[in-house]
Parts: sequence; structure tokens; C-alpha cells
Amino acid sequence: MADTFFITTAIDYTNGAPHIGHAYEKILADVLARYHRLKGEDVFFLTGVDQHGQKVQQSAEKAGVAPQQFVDEITGKFKALWGKLDVRYDAWAATTDPLHQECVRANLQKLWDDHDPATGQSRWLYKKTQRGFYSVRQEQFLTDKERGPDGQFGPEWGLVEERDEENFYFRLTQDPTTGLPGCDPKQWLLDFIDARTAAGKPFVIPDFRVAELRNAVEKLEGDLCISRPASRLKWGIPFPETFGAGFVTYVWFDALVNYITFVPGHDPNYGERTQAKNAECGMTNDEGSTAAAGHSSSVTRHSSFADWWPPLHVIGKDILIPAHGVYWPVMLKALGFSDAEMPTLLVHGWWNISGAKMSKSLGNVIDPDALADKYGPEALRYYLMSDIATGKDADFREERLVEIYNSDLANKLGNLLNRTLSMAGKYREGVAHVGDEEIGKQVRDACASMRINFGPYAHVTVITDVDHHSYRGLPVFDSALRQVISFTAHCNGFIEAQAPWKLAKMTSNERHLDAVLYTLAESLRIIAILISPVLPRAAHGIFDQLNWKMDEQGQETRFRLADATWGGLPDGHTLGQPTPLFPRIETSAA
Ligand code: MSP
Repeated sequence: MADTFFITTAIDYTNGAPHIGHAYEKILADVLARYHRLKGEDVFFLTGVDQHGQKVQQSAEKAGVAPQQFVDEITGKFKALWGKLDVRYDAWAATTDPLHQECVRANLQKLWDDHDPATGQSRWLYKKTQRGFYSVRQEQFLTDKERGPDGQFGPEWGLVEERDEENFYFRLTQDPTTGLPGCDPKQWLLDFIDARTAAGKPFVIPDFRVAELRNAVEKLEGDLCISRPASRLKWGIPFPETFGAGFVTYVWFDALVNYITFVPGHDPNYGERTQAKNAECGMTNDEGSTAAAGHSSSVTRHSSFADWWPPLHVIGKDILIPAHGVYWPVMLKALGFSDAEMPTLLVHGWWNISGAKMSKSLGNVIDPDALADKYGPEALRYYLMSDIATGKDADFREERLVEIYNSDLANKLGNLLNRTLSMAGKYREGVAHVGDEEIGKQVRDACASMRINFGPYAHVTVITDVDHHSYRGLPVFDSALRQVISFTAHCNGFIEAQAPWKLAKMTSNERHLDAVLYTLAESLRIIAILISPVLPRAAHGIFDQLNWKMDEQGQETRFRLADATWGGLPDGHTLGQPTPLFPRIETSAA
């Protein structure tokens, strides 16, 4: 059976329309998912929306609609955008989904029931009353961060009063008096991060984020408040009644759990699951047992939770510390996941505008939907994958999108396809003949001596680089794409050097001409496979025009990395007609 690969994204807040940052992350994960499918792996790609919380509650009130109606409308916008941008996920995580609500409650119950034999208390959860300053107008507790330079809370907070509030807390640190939860989560996390680094499989990619996370864990103090009184927050998942009435799950204990809920085979009630002892903390280890909930054939082939887990989480840098880097591993630990079952975090950077954060108040938020309408989804995908180094920030510039599209796709790739097929049609009635092997080899050797690195030599380099640059390390699609484009440029240079229009003048050159045209067509077939994760539509366009694998038209299975070896097109294969694949974007239109 094929290897499996489980990839997730952050689930986006549904209090506003999607922006370019959301689109970037989903496309990045989609490219990774497609790349793994290309390698022949069975992939489960999970994305979705984070629908609960105070902000949504307030925005819905402002809009005069019920919160569910409000989030449904915005969720529709996200789903439509992913459809438009060819983000091909296998399952949709929506936190208002009853399945998810049940899973969140089951997790809370499991932790609540995990009693310490000495104290009879839950090892992980406890209830505590806290006194603090509460803004009646904004309906939230305030911290010292909200105080002005004069030490006072400003007028924007309205009436601020001291209040007591009872809530549930999740242990991130060990209680010195009771010794609960029975292990020191903070020390465990530090050891775990170090062990993963030492084993060459860092918990966080890229590397520089590991140090950042480690420092934050060392400074960790206090526990995580995981509830809000229902009197204050209505729009959330109610706690199980065993906790007493009137509590709603607060933010991360709801959102993070989506990564478990929607995995095929997950049983939200922790029913008949394999129990295995967790060595360090003596906790139980669960494996799912119910049938697949997803819809892809990969999902049908792998219906158990253990087939997919652990995941690669693709997230932005702002939600590494503390949410994904601290809360999530400790939550998994508490739920009984072993160290070997911990996920990996791939942390991407942010798209900024002239070095500054995008924000509604500055009015500089970039709308991916409008850009996809203006330039097409492939132009946007290509720009977002080629003009940022994964893990780092970049500046979004529309002119740059146009510039890169025109230079790489219209001038290089589109041109190569067009010239190759036009010449094959004109000089050889559209038929690709391998030509004389000897001549073919001479052609390739001549190119190598001219330092035109292409064909059977170059394609090996390109594939290895694409492979090397992709996950299981840091996926650097920008440099992988540069490799593919320079391969394309070499092919264009090869056309100039071989001048098929001159070769076509003498019949004695026919087999030489054939070798040249075959080399070009074969290079295009390989290029299509290599770019297919980033540019699925263009890859299909190239295959269609090459008249190749027509029985799998429009299907992703048409592309396989294993097919990217020289000589795939059979001798005498009839090529198709050229049609412009990447029409130039005129700058006035931009
Ligand atoms: N709902 C939480 C995540 C819960 S995951 C269990 C959240 N939502 S968000 O809508 O604010 O952000 C979703 C993702 O978009 C995050 O990974 C965030 O880093 C990413 N981005 C938000 N703005 C971005 C840019 N300007 N650029 C790139 N990605 C950015 O956080």
C-alpha cells in the first residue's frame, strides 16, 4: 500500500472575507498535497474555518443576523475561493459541525475523567476563580496591556469594574503542591523539542523557529484558561454537563481539536480504541476505529485514524507561539498521544504591503478573489509560490505578479510550447519521431558542450532539486520553480542553437531535425509533470496540446513523478495543435 501523507492548514476566522494571506497558506498546502500525490502517496488534506468566538458573535449582532447565518455566509466565500483557486482538499473542517462539537466535548470529558488516584481530581483540568478588571462595554477582561501611559484604562473601554469569574483551566505547568498532572508538561515539551531536533526531524520547520519556540517554552508560566461563562460568550461549544452548567469552550480548545475531529476513522467518543501505555506519564494512547468520513479515493483506502496520523500542520508565524507550539503538543500529550505521534509544524511567513501588515483600518487588504478574476488562478498561484521563500515574509506587489507571469510563463514556458508544436506541425506534420539515436545523442552532447543544460541530463537535476526542495525538509518552491523555468529557458536556447528552420531545408537533415523536435516535446512533457502541483491547469494544457494521456484528461492522476524520465513519448507520437497557454498580460491591463 502507498505511503500516506496527512496535511492540514490553519482554519480561518469567519469574521471577514478571505484575504491574500489566507489564500497563500491554502495554496502552499495544496501544492504540497499535490506534490505528494505526484509522488504516488495517498494524501489527506484538511482545511476549513474557525467559526466560534466573541468577534463573530459581535459582528453577527452588528449585521443583525444570527451567528450561524453570519458564519455560513462567510464560510461560503472561503469555499468558493478555494474552488476558484483549485485548492483541492479532502475534508472540510467547520467548527460548528456537530461532529466537531461532539469531539471537543469528548476530549474535555476524557481529560476531566482522567483522575489522579491520590487526589481524586482530574490530572489536567481544574476550576478556579479569578479576579480582574472587566470592561462592561467591550464585554471582556482587561490586562495591563490595555492600560494607557497614565496607567488607566482609556474611555474606549467604558465602565471598568473589578469582577470575579470562575473558569476551567488546562495545566501547562506542574502544580508544585499536588504534583499534577503527574509529569511536568513544560519539561516534557523542552525534552521533546530537543529529541526531535537531535533525531533530525525538527518539530518546527524552518529551523530558526525551533529556537524561538524553545525560548518561549522556557519562559512558560501559568496554565491555559479554556472556558468562558455562557453569560458572556454565547457563540461557542458548551462544556459537557458533567462540568456544571453554563460554560462554553474558549478558542484554542475548540479550534485545535479540528485536526483530530475530521481525520477519517476518528471516533469522537473514544469508543473501541486500542489502549497503549504512554511510558513517561502513564497515560493511554488512542487509535481511531470508525469508518472514513472523507471523500477521496485515498481516504477510502485508509479508513483508520492511525493510517493518517501524525499530520504536517501548515500555519502562519503568528500562531506558532503559544497555540501550535505549546498548547497543542501538551493537549495531545494529555489526550494520550505518544511522542512518536506528535505532528510537525511548517511555519510560513507573511505577505506584507510595503513592509507593513495588511489591515482593514489601513485599507490595504489584498483580495485574492478579485486578483484571480483579473489574472486567472494560475497567475496568482505561480506568484504566491515563486516570489516568497517559505518561512520568510515577502511584500505583495501586483506589478511583480504581472512581471513574473509575463517573463516566466508567457515568454518562456508558453513560448516554448507554442514554438515546439508549431515547428512540429510545419516541418513534420505534427509527428514526434525519436530520430536517429546517435544523432539525438550528438545533439545532446553538442548542447552540453555549449553549456545548454537540458534534456536527459538536466531533467535529472531538475527532478532531484524539486524533490530535495520539498517536504520532508523545508519546501522551497521558489527555487524549485526557478529550476524548472531555467530548464525551459535552456530549451528555448536550444531552439536558437539548433535552428530547426534551417535543418528543415534539407531532407538529409530529417533525422537530426526529428531528434531536436522530439527532445523539445519530451522536455515539455517532463516540465508539465514538474509544474503540475503549482500550475495544475497549465500542466493539463501542455498534456492536452502534446496529445498525451488524453484518457485521463482533467484528472490529477494524469501526472506521476515516476513518469518524469526521458523517453516517455513513443516514436511516431502525433502531437496536438498549439494554442496560447499563457497569453501575455498587457501592462496597461494591470
Ligand atoms: N483561527 C485561527 C487559526 C486556528 S488553527 C487551529 C486563525 N485564523 S486567521 O484567519 O487569523 O489566520 C489563518 C491563517 O492565515 C494563519 O495561519 C495566519 O498566519 C495566516 N495569515 C493571516 N494573515 C497573513 C498574511 N498576511 N500572510 C500570510 N499568512 C497570513 O489564526
